[in-house]
Amino acid sequence: MPEFDTSVPHSARIWNYWLGGRDNFPADQAAGDAYRERFPDIDECARVSRHFLNRAVRYLAGDAGVRQFLDVGTGLPTVDNTHEVAQRADPQARIVYVDNDPMVLAHAHALLNSSPQGRTDYIDADLREPETILRAAARTLDFARPVALILSDVMGHIPDLDQAYDIVRRLTGGLPPGSYRMLSHGVRGEAHLNAAQDEYNDSGAVPYILRTPE
Ligand SMILES: C[S@@+](CC[C@H](N)C(=O)[O-])C[C@H]1O[C@@H](n2cnc3c(N)ncnc32)[C@H](O)[C@@H]1O
Repeated sequence: MPEFDTSVPHSARIWNYWLGGRDNFPADQAAGDAYRERFPDIDECARVSRHFLNRAVRYLAGDAGVRQFLDVGTGLPTVDNTHEVAQRADPQARIVYVDNDPMVLAHAHALLNSSPQGRTDYIDADLREPETILRAAARTLDFARPVALILSDVMGHIPDLDQAYDIVRRLTGGLPPGSYRMLSHGVRGEAHLNAAQDEYNDSGAVPYILRTPE
């Protein structure tokens, strides 16, 4: 088992708490509750974001005919993980998950239950190292064929905007022609949402920067 400090709130576990999961600890619940007190719609936001991820993967695997997925900042396993949605469209689909949270690593077996015809892999890596991710993903994905890069609610964890652009550029630049990129990102909004996020960013969890839609 990887070691992790359960007294410090963490993004993946707070996200899991808002989604109604059980893979979280009192520190995550306290940070999640404090956010909810200021911004009561946060559980709904987390669920809607997850629905969007599922809808995007359904579209990519169905209409767009993509058979390979690189899901970076995966989060803790929940219902309808990327491989389950994609392999419903085509059991041969291949999915590589990437996260840097030891708790996600500890639960990664739930992401590795691929259909027999397809394949899944999990890479314990930091988003700030795109080339490491691309190299490790090539063990499972065929980079001669299109890949869908999934960046679902993770880029806010890179506070520096130039660095965020650089990471997205380098990850996207490593994909073959015909590939897709799905990116979702929390945006600044009403004062109570912004205040909740500022408080969260002071909670000890890795900060998540809400950006403008532009
Ligand atoms: C808000 S959750 C989103 C989870 C999932 N993508 C979804 O949309 O439901 C953000 C995830 O990004 C991961 N994460 C944060 N910073 C990361 C980094 N530098 N490298 C890799 N993963 C990171 C966290 O551990 C967490 O699982």
